[in-house]
Amino acid sequence: MQFPTELIARLQKAERVTALTGAGVSQESGLRTFRDSQTGLWAQYRPEDLATPEAFLRNPKLVWDWYAERRQRADTVQPNAGHYALAEMGRRFPKFTLITQNVDGLHQRAGSKDVIELHGNILRVKCFDCGRPAETWAESAPEVPRCAVCGGLLRPDVVWFGEALPRLALETAVEAARTCQFFFSIGTSGLVQPAASLAFAARNRGAVIVEINLEPTPLTERADYFLQGKSGEILPELARTLWPESKRL
Ligand code: APR
Repeated sequence: MQFPTELIARLQKAERVTALTGAGVSQESGLRTFRDSQTGLWAQYRPEDLATPEAFLRNPKLVWDWYAERRQRADTVQPNAGHYALAEMGRRFPKFTLITQNVDGLHQRAGSKDVIELHGNILRVKCFDCGRPAETWAESAPEVPRCAVCGGLLRPDVVWFGEALPRLALETAVEAARTCQFFFSIGTSGLVQPAASLAFAARNRGAVIVEINLEPTPLTERADYFLQGKSGEILPELARTLWPESKRL
């Protein structure tokens, strides 16, 4: 991909860069996005019908099994070149903040540090009642495993529809959006709040908005640059253009 010369020149001088990623960044690792249709046993359900506290209380085993299968899948897939390019950005820009809506842990496995997980992490499990994290649990027991301390049902440590985001994560993300010079919105449909408002918060403070997506989103017409295509291709190419000597791309 040929990048606009002006974009490269400005990025080479950039100090504070913030990136927000969505499910599109993990799509090339083989993980479905939220707007992809579900398959197999889960085809009959929409994520919105499973990823809620009410759905969990109504049928704990169904929701637990859906996440257990996704946890197992997230463990078996590998980070893709887009994840590794973002990790390189973290090493290269003086102040780089990576915010993700993804719960698959792939950014950390690719080497990104201090990842802000707005929606939690599917690899972590906590008690539905007391909130204590669980160190170990029986993954495929006939019953949903219970908290060793209070006996409550265990659940994935992710943010469900209708639940508040982790306060510190959100505050840090808003601060990173407001103070950056460049804001990348990558592989996200920009449909779910409050993550979707971060790009606008950055834009209102004068940041340059760069969107990378297969297709336009509600942000596209407000973005300064729209790089259309696969993040797993565009991000490494962008990093190689910025840092040709890099050996890790
Ligand atoms: N490269 C770049 N973009 C891609 C790719 C790819 N290879 N594949 C898909 N996309 C784009 C799609 O065009 C879409 O805009 O990624 C976006 C995925 O959008 P969603 O499935 O809505 O995922 P996301 O934006 O992360 O959803 C946000 O919604 O369901 C909730 O909590 C859940 O974190 C999730 C949030």
